Amino acid sequence: MKIAVLHGPNLNLLGQREPDVYGRETLKEIDQRICVAGAELGVEVVTFQSNHEGALIDEIQRRGPEAAGFLINAGGYSHTSIALRDALVGVGRPFVEVHLSNVMARERFRRRSLLAGRALGAIMGFGADSYLLGLRGLVSYLRRAEK
Ligand code: DQA
Repeated sequence: MKIAVLHGPNLNLLGQREPDVYGRETLKEIDQRICVAGAELGVEVVTFQSNHEGALIDEIQRRGPEAAGFLINAGGYSHTSIALRDALVGVGRPFVEVHLSNVMARERFRRRSLLAGRALGAIMGFGADSYLLGLRGLVSYLRRAEK
């Protein structure tokens, strides 16, 4: 089973970007933790980061046929991108929305997610652990759906 993990804009700067909000771990370290967690769960994890909406959409379309599901932190695009939502819905795979920070406890404009309404679930506020919790939930859902 393959899980595609997508990171949106500015997440390449994790570690140096607003560490009080997003923590001190780099994206590379986080990806390593997700891959280890994936191996423990018996799934293959592929990761991708882009600052560009179109590149994220291309990756969703490319991975759609082979991935069982997506884990996505769309960063700022979570709050603005109809196109990303359409791409995720279009490939017909379940996806979990992830945020490092608790977006509900921040600025008002972050409270709206265009992805949330079509997501299997959302995990936020646990720093990098949000990805691991989301992965666990997604894999558990997919295993139940397999039966
Ligand atoms: C974020 C929250 C978004 O509002 C923000 O634009 C990000 C990161 C998070 O992981 O907490 O880039 O998705």
